[in-house]
Amino acid sequence: MYALKCIECGREYNPEEVIYLCECGGLLEVRFNLDQLEFSIPLDGSNLSVWKYKDLLPIAIDPVTIGEGGTPLYHCKKLGRMMGIKNLFVKHEGMNPSGSFKDRGMTVGVTKAIELNRTTVACASTGNTSASMAMYAAKAGLMAVVLLPYGKVALGKVAQAMVHGAKVLGIKDNFDKALMLVREVSDKLGFYLLNSVNPFRLEGQKTIAYEIYDVLQSVPSRVILPVGNAGNISAIYKGFREFEELGIISNVPHMIGVQAEKASPIANAVKRGDMEIIPEKNPETIATAIRIGDPVNAVKALRAIRESDGTAISVSDQDIVKAQLDLARLEGIGVEPASAASIAGLKKLAEDGIIEKDEVIVCIVTGHLLKDPEEVIDICGKPHIVEPDINAIRRAISTDK
Ligand code: F0G
Repeated sequence: MYALKCIECGREYNPEEVIYLCECGGLLEVRFNLDQLEFSIPLDGSNLSVWKYKDLLPIAIDPVTIGEGGTPLYHCKKLGRMMGIKNLFVKHEGMNPSGSFKDRGMTVGVTKAIELNRTTVACASTGNTSASMAMYAAKAGLMAVVLLPYGKVALGKVAQAMVHGAKVLGIKDNFDKALMLVREVSDKLGFYLLNSVNPFRLEGQKTIAYEIYDVLQSVPSRVILPVGNAGNISAIYKGFREFEELGIISNVPHMIGVQAEKASPIANAVKRGDMEIIPEKNPETIATAIRIGDPVNAVKALRAIRESDGTAISVSDQDIVKAQLDLARLEGIGVEPASAASIAGLKKLAEDGIIEKDEVIVCIVTGHLLKDPEEVIDICGKPHIVEPDINAIRRAISTDK
């Protein structure tokens, strides 16, 4: 029903083989034989979840599931009005079980680990991948090994990985180095690698595209999302392409990736008109989830952007924080800084006159606000301390906004 295929040379591999890259060095992807699929999933917005689309997922056994997917798609009228856009929708992936979109990938990836008789799963992470992997590994009874860039991961995410019982190691270097190391360690020790270089994980994440269509029953003009290791933009594009191949839709949205200014190798490549990135040695941003200089899925992402006539842009940390507050205060949607990059990116495109006011736009916000409480306190400050006295409270309210 499906094959593992190199996106560069087209070589096919047995999907039961544990392999992440082609011998030619190319990335692999799962290719379904869609011609032979009898599609019978009702696309009427009902019963949304990752496993609603199981006919399009490369798994044969009962999944390890904690209720992932089916996240809300909010029509954000106030935020849209601020930017002059009528149809702005925000898909809140922070409403997944561990608080980020990674759960869509991990339900599939961890189930695949079991199918392949693996007992230990591993990843490098800026935080969310590790939180999600640890959670699903716990549910499945697998051991989880996590490599984090020491001191650069938001507290909520570290707490999650720890509480679910992962072996968590802080590496005195950045994410890119941690990923290099975990790939080597997994190879040597037989761990099942669950970073987004694993094509099965991305299969779970493509369900974001399915859900968007399932709910809107139309294809948005643009899908805008934050980009770090560049797996998610590739996965969502693949989801739309598959629906197109199945004849469900007749066009795909423009895929728009947003990166932080000092961690923007993909946006820079797009600006240069290149299909290859120049890695950034010392990426830096308040949005620690996307503090990545050498995205492993860059080739897939750049193709998704080019083929969909999309783009990638970068935004400043200041814009990210502003967008985070706007979303929280106008729409009641709390997200972590990386997620707000999609909103900041939309604002930039709207200001540059690139977006027309009648377009249907979907911004993906990828992780929950509570992932990174320290950043919020840095931005918003701590509560005022007030004497337990009604007059003191009255005074404090009138002086403190
Ligand atoms: N948003 C959040 C909240 C993330 O955690 C990540 C990636 C991204 C966006 C970017 O997604 O890598 O598919 O382009 N976090 C990874 C991690 C790297 O380790 O949790 P991407």
